[in-house]
Amino acid sequence: MDYQLLFDQYQPAHSGLRLSQQRRLYGCLREAILNGHLVADAKLPGTRSLAAELNVARNTVLYAYEQLVTEGLLQTQGSSTRVAKGVCAGRHLVDEANSATRAISTRAQLTPWPVDPHGAFTAFMPGVPSLADFPLPLWRRCVERSWRKLSHKQLDYADVAGEPELRSAIADHLTTTRGVRCTAAQIFITDGTQQSLGICAHALANAGNTVWIENPGYGGAFQSLKAAELHVRGIAVDEQGIAPSESDWNNFPPKFIYTTPSHQFPLGSVMSIERRMSLIESAQRVGALIIEDDYDSEFRRDGPPLPAMQGLVEDAPVIYLGTFSKTLFPALRIGFMLVPKGLATAFYGMLRLGHLRGRSADQLALAEFLRAGHFAQHLKKMRRLYAARRDALVSAIEKYLGDSVTIYGGSSGIHLTIALAEQCNDLVISQALLAQGVYAQPLSKLATDKVLRNGLMLGYAQVDAIEMDKYVQILAQVIKAGTVCATTET
Ligand SMILES: Cc1ncc(COP(=O)(O)O)c(C=O)c1O
Repeated sequence: MDYQLLFDQYQPAHSGLRLSQQRRLYGCLREAILNGHLVADAKLPGTRSLAAELNVARNTVLYAYEQLVTEGLLQTQGSSTRVAKGVCAGRHLVDEANSATRAISTRAQLTPWPVDPHGAFTAFMPGVPSLADFPLPLWRRCVERSWRKLSHKQLDYADVAGEPELRSAIADHLTTTRGVRCTAAQIFITDGTQQSLGICAHALANAGNTVWIENPGYGGAFQSLKAAELHVRGIAVDEQGIAPSESDWNNFPPKFIYTTPSHQFPLGSVMSIERRMSLIESAQRVGALIIEDDYDSEFRRDGPPLPAMQGLVEDAPVIYLGTFSKTLFPALRIGFMLVPKGLATAFYGMLRLGHLRGRSADQLALAEFLRAGHFAQHLKKMRRLYAARRDALVSAIEKYLGDSVTIYGGSSGIHLTIALAEQCNDLVISQALLAQGVYAQPLSKLATDKVLRNGLMLGYAQVDAIEMDKYVQILAQVIKAGTVCATTET
């Protein structure tokens, strides 16, 4: 074994780090054992001779050997040092992977998103508002003021339901703009809808209970429900929203139904008033709750937003989830749950057990942002901006893709979807687009079981109207190439 070569060529995994000679030799020998260059029972040189060969201090070699003996990769027999008999190449790496798998519960071993393009600008990234248009100086002033007013007492664990000022500002805002019926006592501040969903999944159903979700539907909700070990039944969606059949109600009654009535995620349909009433009545009949995820209703273009389901009847069996991720910015991590009156005390008790709260300053800043009218002003500006971007996207699609795709769901929110021709595979197209800086979420990835739709979600909030043609041209090229390939293959 040429130890000099081994030592010289060793590339530590974090090559930016400057390693001591000891750590370098240790890492180099460890890697050689794990990848099979030094096989089980192979005898290593004595510490003096290896030190001389490598031109390092003997202590350096002693350190490396001792460390590897402690890890069980080397054994000493009298004065000689050998690779441990039980070591076979790759075993430790495999063990590491296996023990990681063993350490993580099966509940948590869900499929992660294939890519996480957050952080860098990617055209058509759904679910992210126009970050560049957020009034940062105004927000900074609210945050600074709220920190200045904070007392030492408020550095303690905060109220698990959230800051009273924010809860009441949200209650007032929802009552006037969303037609909900509530008091601040029914509002619980969370770290966003994702957390609200996790709390609801644990609070409202036991492992194995059936719950419904829209199919296709929001992946974040699907993951939360699966993580709570619930039996998740996908319910098809039509142009009026979630469309459960009589058989669904009779044979698979749910503990709760997750739905996005104001702007179905991802297809964008708006649930009709008849469908809303019928869903409420049927839920009441079977004793189910409805989780209404009202994630982006503020951006409706065909008129004022339809009132929330929560306010349609007195004491509706609805938990209304709201978030500031789309209206303000996702990193804020503030959302809320509005629970029926009869559940507020139980939620309070449950949250005290496991969901201690803090970040009072952010909550108070947000309360001021709402009370001072900055929120309403920002929404007004963003509604105009998103309408212009949506219009630019629709006309670019018509120009470059014509009849080859069908557009759905552009009347509200900050995304729309396009349905692709059958021979065009949305997964393949989405992958090819990524290489060109365009992220278009494939609809088939949002299916709960049977893939019912083949298409792409296009988030337009961050794409300037004058840039829209450029990105849609890329989209069109990739879709056309994908269609031609598929046609020639068949
Ligand atoms: C349907 C839906 N609900 C909720 C959210 C927001 O979740 P959060 O408040 O955790 O950011 C998103 C974000 O993409 C979403 O698409």
